[in-house]
Amino acid sequence: MPKLFINENKKVGKIHEEIYGHFAEHLGRCIYEGLYVGEDSPIPNVNGMRTDVVEALKELDIPVLRWPGGCFADEYHWKDGIGPKEDRKKMINTNWGDVLEDNSFGTHEFMELCSQLGCKTYINGNVGSGTVQEMAEWIEYMTFDGVSPLADLRRKNGREKPWRVDYFGVGNENWGCGGNMTPEYYANLYRRYQTFVKQYNVDAPIYKICCGANVDDYHWTEKVMAAAHDHTEAKFHGHMDGISLHYYVHPGGWDNKGSATRFDEAEWFRTMYKAMFIEQLVEEHGRIMDIFDPERKIDLIVDEWGCWFDVEPGTNPGFLYQQNTMRDALVACISLNIFNKHCRRIKMANIAQVVNVLQAMVLTEGEKMLLTPTYYIFRMYKHHQNGQLLDSFAETTEIGTDDYKVPDISESVSMDEKGNIHITLGNLSITEEKDLEILFFAKKAEKARATILTGAMDSYNTFENPENIKEEEYHAFSIMENGIINVILPPCSVVHIEVEA
Ligand code: AHR
Repeated sequence: MPKLFINENKKVGKIHEEIYGHFAEHLGRCIYEGLYVGEDSPIPNVNGMRTDVVEALKELDIPVLRWPGGCFADEYHWKDGIGPKEDRKKMINTNWGDVLEDNSFGTHEFMELCSQLGCKTYINGNVGSGTVQEMAEWIEYMTFDGVSPLADLRRKNGREKPWRVDYFGVGNENWGCGGNMTPEYYANLYRRYQTFVKQYNVDAPIYKICCGANVDDYHWTEKVMAAAHDHTEAKFHGHMDGISLHYYVHPGGWDNKGSATRFDEAEWFRTMYKAMFIEQLVEEHGRIMDIFDPERKIDLIVDEWGCWFDVEPGTNPGFLYQQNTMRDALVACISLNIFNKHCRRIKMANIAQVVNVLQAMVLTEGEKMLLTPTYYIFRMYKHHQNGQLLDSFAETTEIGTDDYKVPDISESVSMDEKGNIHITLGNLSITEEKDLEILFFAKKAEKARATILTGAMDSYNTFENPENIKEEEYHAFSIMENGIINVILPPCSVVHIEVEA
């Protein structure tokens, strides 16, 4: 029987809660309808935020939310989204469907949403079409406690105290939708713009994120790190605290993403293989970062990741609305296990996106809401947040097609503050059940509980049948007298086992 070895005495590093972060862009029905319906909506809401979605997301213990984009961030002018709603400027969302953006969701609404979710704030600034002054003023508006024109404007708009901005992105995808810049040009702009991200609250300095590479663009990482990483003149932090990486899983490539719900076994394995590729990206970009920052002061921030398929037939192509199957669940399982295992490098990751866009947690249709298989993965994995990654190794077998081979099992293990051990396991086979023996270095397991998410590879939840796939208690495991755990992993399943301290 294959084994999973866990050394509970070897703590590899802290799994930052931010690895379980999320992303909400002004894109399709993510913000409008998905999160925000307005105070006057017949859909139950608190200060405009829809109650059903907020309550569902609260169960995930969302640690941080990124906003307002994405590509939208580099055409967003924050002053359009403050003050009386009727006076707010309207704009066309040119990246996402050319629809009218009425700016009724702006800075105050985002902060209200984060406060309802109880999460940290990650705001992405505009370098592509915004000025340094505009960025500087946004920071002043949000975080300055004293008397100043911008702080006074915030007060006039109803917010006396400054907010806390935990993370700030200086531009997004500036190699593409954020300005089509060369890395050298962006690196210089980054140095300049970040200078004016002032630290008004010295007790809670803003963590600055530099725009990093798309997928395997190692040249970008090298040039940007070389020119912009400097720590030497830092007053609080250096020029940058983190550099981002974006990676989407497109099973058939950018021009042939494929259906979210109709796919065969070959496409299943192509998807799994591409999900596994994020590990190589983290390692390769990390090697380049190490050249310039050998002390590893700068973190890797995977602030966009997930599955990107064709939009659901009949929906607006600019809205990126897709269904979510067990395949998405296994991609999330693989990715999060990899992020956990690289927690010494990765400080934050933000799946794209939280509601109604790409690999979402929640889908809505008017007043209806459903939870996706990916939602349940985040609920099962939340126990890893702030845990200590434990050294673990699984004996695996290669499965897949001739071109796309993957290990049959994905795993990661952590210990929480109470000493309980959390094991998350994925069986990537869609036909074979796996029996696994779980052995500890010295510990003898005595008490454990487990939950499972499983179903056919292409199964998903619909508004008619919203509970087709859901997390359930799982009992197909046993604890031997010697403290070894035997567990059966059904095909296409993800299991979370909690072993008591
Ligand atoms: O998440 C959708 C889009 O993907 C984001 O706006 C952009 O940053 C990326 O290309």
